[in-house]
Amino acid sequence: MLPVVLLSHRGPATFRRTPSGLTLKRGAGGLVTALMGLAEHLDDAIWVCAASSAADMLVVTEHEGHSVEIAFSPDLHVVDDSDKESGPSLNVRYVEVEPERHEQFYTQIANPLLWFVQHGLHGLATEPNITADVHRAYVDGYVAVNEQFADAVADEVERRGGEAIVMVQDYHFYLVGERVRQRCPDAVISHFVHIPWPGPDGWRVLPVQMREDILRGLLGCDVVAFHTRRSARNFLTCAQDMLDLQIDLRAGTVEVPAAGGRTRTVAARAYPISVDVESVEKLAASEEVAARRQALERQHLDDGRQLIVRVDRTDPSKNIVRGFRAFDLMLEQHPEMLGRVTFLASLMPSRQDVPEYADYLAQIGGVVAETNARHHAEGWQPIDLRMQEDLAFAVAAYQLADVLVVNAVTDGMNLVAKEAVLANQRDGVLLLSENTGAHDELGEHALTVHPFDIQQQADAMFEALTMPRQQRAKLLVAAAERVRSNDVERWLRTQLDDLRRIGE
Ligand code: G6P
Repeated sequence: MLPVVLLSHRGPATFRRTPSGLTLKRGAGGLVTALMGLAEHLDDAIWVCAASSAADMLVVTEHEGHSVEIAFSPDLHVVDDSDKESGPSLNVRYVEVEPERHEQFYTQIANPLLWFVQHGLHGLATEPNITADVHRAYVDGYVAVNEQFADAVADEVERRGGEAIVMVQDYHFYLVGERVRQRCPDAVISHFVHIPWPGPDGWRVLPVQMREDILRGLLGCDVVAFHTRRSARNFLTCAQDMLDLQIDLRAGTVEVPAAGGRTRTVAARAYPISVDVESVEKLAASEEVAARRQALERQHLDDGRQLIVRVDRTDPSKNIVRGFRAFDLMLEQHPEMLGRVTFLASLMPSRQDVPEYADYLAQIGGVVAETNARHHAEGWQPIDLRMQEDLAFAVAAYQLADVLVVNAVTDGMNLVAKEAVLANQRDGVLLLSENTGAHDELGEHALTVHPFDIQQQADAMFEALTMPRQQRAKLLVAAAERVRSNDVERWLRTQLDDLRRIGE
């Protein structure tokens, strides 16, 4: 079986320094959960990621750039010689990036520029402004960091005799595929893009050299993977439009010139990611969730009152401000709802070193304060905003939601929608943006919302709150069934099977 070398910016676990020594904390996010499954599927897998804490850096120094074996059960721990009984484990190689370079790579290019281009978040009349500083950050930060990680990945492939499956993740590493191919021509390389891929016009926001570099970098892979067919098609259209390559939309392929006048076929495929159904259900049945659920019930659900819920990172792509404006409008247009429904938002501050994200967080605070001031009444406040990272709280909120709001401007997949329909216990109705990857699977079991139409979102909230119970139950059962039938394990297994087939 071919070994697997995986690369993502965030790793499966980070080290923390405590008075009693180094401890491990699991990395945040759905991607980590999804990829952890690798440990159970493979004999030889190594995960390359950025060292993200001072303690990670210490581990890098101690291991002289080699990997650390980490086991996931019963608790996260480093496997040493005395510990051969632990369950599934993974080798993790932390790569230390020089801080200034990391800032250019992550805070100047990946998050404000690439993320904004791919989610269509720029107000083009005034932004982006691609200055000399941005060009410098691209070359000294993005390109340099991609080269550093490509070299780390290629080292690991070479250590395994030059034949391995390489799985690169996300928008941080678009230039890695091509460079790894140059050093390791026998590797099978895939790149998974977890965020939307716009068509050629969307990419024209970037200077020609950057957008062509990115495309060429990805075309160094054998497979470029997305969550939706729409993104895969857009990718092929970009290759045709920007690089004049021959594409086959039906087969999902593009022909790329290779040595000796030949061509190489690169496939663009869709593999919709999902959640780990078993672990969501296990957490949902836990005492920590029960305690939070009881507290929320007491606070918000006595006397037949209802609850609208959202759980998100405070990312402009999540459209949190418009969601609150829609709620405000709904209360204004349906005064009978005053005091009868609360909007509970559990939000995790995200990427606060990027000015656009800090501004967005301030806007969220502003709209919540306005709405609460406008409508509050004795013993009731319209929006209950919690700034926190608390998965057990999120699951308790999912269980109690009458309405779950996912109104993203656009989103590669959106796993909140999938987790919520699995956990919900009140025949909750999902309000789902038509621009999420999740909409392809769950749209028919949800109320579709248009991310920019605040009036329509307000109407959808009212419709969901007043929908007959039986109809709500039917939608929820069908949505949960859909998620169960495409568990994250299947997402990973299908990709590995396809890549192995290419390897053979
Ligand atoms: C999205 C991206 C991931 C990223 C995560 C959290 O889901 O697709 O690659 O890790 O957001 O963002 P952060 O910048 O905190 O890693």
